[in-house]
Parts: sequence; structure tokens; C-alpha cells
Amino acid sequence: MGYLLSKENFSKIGEFIYRKSGIYLEEEKHFDKLAKFVDSRAKALGIDNFRKYFFKLRFEDKEGEEFQELMNAITVNETYFFREKDQFEVLVNSILPELHKRLPASKPIRILSSPCSTGEEPYSIILHIVEEGKVVEERDIEVVGIDIDSSVIEKAKIAKYSDRAIHAIPKNILKKWFVKKKIGYQLGDDLNGTVDFQVANVFDKTQMRNLGKFDVIFSRNMLIYFDDASRKEVAMTFYDMLNPGGYVLLGHAEYMSRIVSVFKARKIDKTLIYQK
Ligand SMILES: C[S@@+](CC[C@H](N)C(=O)[O-])C[C@H]1O[C@@H](n2cnc3c(N)ncnc32)[C@H](O)[C@@H]1O
Repeated sequence: MGYLLSKENFSKIGEFIYRKSGIYLEEEKHFDKLAKFVDSRAKALGIDNFRKYFFKLRFEDKEGEEFQELMNAITVNETYFFREKDQFEVLVNSILPELHKRLPASKPIRILSSPCSTGEEPYSIILHIVEEGKVVEERDIEVVGIDIDSSVIEKAKIAKYSDRAIHAIPKNILKKWFVKKKIGYQLGDDLNGTVDFQVANVFDKTQMRNLGKFDVIFSRNMLIYFDDASRKEVAMTFYDMLNPGGYVLLGHAEYMSRIVSVFKARKIDKTLIYQK
């Protein structure tokens, strides 16, 4: 027996996903995954054809629960601690000292990890900040992590990590801040809960505005799943969310200059950062 989803309908649901999340799915690569998802959701909902499922998803999903199921199924959440580590070093050695000097002492420095997946990126930021120690001794630093996938945010809140997730953390740092469990590692009580994790979609203007203004935005390895129009929209959203002089850091394969020209590119050592 075939799938409920046909090749023709793939483009309809693909277009809906693209419009709502910016994620562009290619039929050749993603058909089977999406078709299996539609079959399993239709079965769970007692629906026997694609048209009814798609109607439910578009028009009867007032609380956004079905859309959330869809997002949780299609996103790619690959991440690990200390990934693209040079950027965390630039953060603590150059960006934070500069912001600390420039911003009024009473103002917390705010850092956004968008997207944060299961929390390895924002907790890598925190680990670098506490290990470096100087700025955090003198002022509050807030770290917020957002992701469209609610299942990764739930995991981030628990902060239990596999051996693979922690493989790049130096042994002395791992020993200091994590507790070894039978399987994997638990982030210790001193740091667990220091990131404010929230489910949010970078294309949802209200959700993004409600997060407030930031001094640094990490947005690594998400824009690669978008097309140029969506990348541009997200880059401008980040621009609006940054305080004057604030910074954006992208993944190693992502370049702001190919997307928008509103940021000034700066190179610190070998790391490219973008300033408002
Ligand atoms: C490959 S992970 C990157 C995680 C981390 N930044 C890193 O570089 O290790 C990409 C994440 O982007 C999230 N994502 C995709 N589209 C999104 C959107 N429209 N809004 C927020 N998060 C999104 C996915 O759920 C996924 O967890």
C-alpha cells in the first residue's frame, strides 16, 4: 500500500511548511520522511486521506498543536558542545569586554542563541563565560535559547547529554561542571537552568519581538535550511532585535554579506562577526 501523500500534494504541504517556517524541503530528499509523518498523524487522528489531514493542519489547528507535531518531525537538530569553538572565544575575549566597557553598568548584557536545538550552544556560551570569569563577575549576563521544535526545548530544559554531545569539551571543564551518569552526563546544578529556553519561530514577528532586545545573537546552522528570501527576512528580524552596535555570529558555512548589507563585517582572528 502506498502513502496518503502523493508527489503532487508534496508541493502543497511543502509550500505551507516553507511559508510558516522558512524550511525548504526538496521532494527528492524529503518525500519519504514527510509521507511517513502524514501517515502516522492521519492514523492517530482517525483520518483516511491527505486532503482531510491538510485541511486540519491549515484551518482547524487553532492552538498550533498539529503544526508543532510537523515541526518536531521535520527539523534537523544536529548540534554538540563547543561546536565552531573559535566564536565562543571571540565572544569572551573580544565582544563581551567591549560591550562591558561601552554599555551602562546597570544594564545586563543579553545574548540570544537562535536556534539553540537541545541547548548545547547556549550552554557552551555560558561555560565560556564562567570559565573566562571576568565580565560575569562585574555585571549580569542573560542567555536566552529559542527553537521552533518543542521537543528539543524540552530536552534542553533537562540538560542531560550523550557522550557524543560532550565529546569536544575539555576534560577539566567537563569534570568541573557536569555529573557523570550511567548513560551520558548531566549538567550540574550550578549551571543547569541558567539559560532561558523558549519555543519560538524566527518568522513569527510577535514571538521574536516579545523576546526583547539583545547585544549578541548567535544564529548558527539554521539559515542553511532556508532560501535567500527567508534568509533575508530573518537577517532583518535579527537587525531589529539588536541594540545599536550589537553583534550577529553565523555558522561557518553562512555569510551575512550574501544576504543583506546592513551589518558591518569584522574579522577577529579568523572569525567573522557582523555588527549593527
Ligand atoms: C542544526 S540545528 C543548529 C543548532 C545550533 N545552533 C548549532 O549550530 O549547533 C538547527 C535548528 O534550527 C531550528 N529551526 C529551523 N527552523 C526554525 C525556525 N523557523 N525558527 C526557529 N528555529 C528553527 C531546528 O529546529 C533545529 O533545531
